[in-house]
Amino acid sequence: MGDLWHVLRGRGDGVRIGLVAVLLTDGTMRKLRRVLDHRRTPRRLDLGRRTTPHAWPSGVHDSLAGAALLLAVALFSASALAAISRSDPPTQAPGRILKPVSAFADINNDRRRSVALFEEMGKVIQSPRCLNCHPRTDRPTQGDAMTPHLPIVTRGVGGLGAAAMHCTVCHRAANFDPAGVPGNPRWSLAPVEFAWQGKTLGQICRQVKDQKRNGGRDLPALIRHMGQDDLVGWAWRPGRGRTAAPGTQAEFGALVQAWADSGAHCPVGR
Ligand code: HEC
Ligand code: HEC
Repeated sequence: MGDLWHVLRGRGDGVRIGLVAVLLTDGTMRKLRRVLDHRRTPRRLDLGRRTTPHAWPSGVHDSLAGAALLLAVALFSASALAAISRSDPPTQAPGRILKPVSAFADINNDRRRSVALFEEMGKVIQSPRCLNCHPRTDRPTQGDAMTPHLPIVTRGVGGLGAAAMHCTVCHRAANFDPAGVPGNPRWSLAPVEFAWQGKTLGQICRQVKDQKRNGGRDLPALIRHMGQDDLVGWAWRPGRGRTAAPGTQAEFGALVQAWADSGAHCPVGR
């Protein structure tokens, strides 16, 4: 812990207060409650006598969670630290650009052009910025190395996170750069039917087109979603220390449109 503060102070512009990366599981909460209950009602220790556990007024649980979160302000995950020291702004190396639609114009065969366009789209779709929120499990991943999300959070109802660990407890309406916490008003986990991690581009392509597995979107809706949706757009404005998805969202949207116009074909056998 001492080392951690040392590193943080060493950053030059004062101690950075980061948002909580806490390993605050329900178990910890229960332990915390037990300790406090114990302090408040020592009679519970009387032999053979058990008082009913303290009834916690509503709100106490929430404020407790809040206090515990604040207490844990210093508990950065190693990756949060790494995020802070990563270079800024994101680099636009060659692998980070998207070919324009015109680069595919000389492929006469519609099917081949369509597949080539989808492969170009794949640079975005399979970038860590998208995959981190489209995991196969109930836990998001983070960073370019796509390591499991710290603290442990789970899908909860509707991908919004379990009660005490609701995504928006930490992920606010906008990126919070001092602590490297990404944000968007609709921050949540993509439903499990939309899982992309561990799948081939061909599998993702067939899934993205399948209205049973894409939230009932027809092609025009899919084009709009990819090209204009603000949560998808976060991938190009990921905040300090994170690599943006390749190209721009508008360029990506144009590729999606051209892919749809050429028959929305998918890479086969891949
Ligand atoms: C207790 C705080 C907390 C909660 C709750 C939380 N997160 Fe995070 N999350 C963070 C922090 C801090 C980071 C930045 C970690 C880093 O990059 O080092 C992060 C990063 C992420 C990233 C990585 C973005 C990227 O591309 O690098 C994703 C994805 C993510 N969170 C999704 C979620 C989802 C979905 C939920 C709810 C189910 C959630 N988080 C709940 C604190 C939280
Ligand atoms: C913060 C988490 C998050 C990030 C980052 C994210 N998504 Fe999603 N995505 C979701 C959620 C939640 C849904 C389901 C809600 C909906 O359908 O609007 C979804 C649904 C989708 C869908 C429709 C379902 C499907 O699988 O066809 C597409 C397409 C999609 N996202 C594309 C992307 C792309 C492309 C990126 C990166 C450029 C991206 N997403 C980044 C959370 C995220």
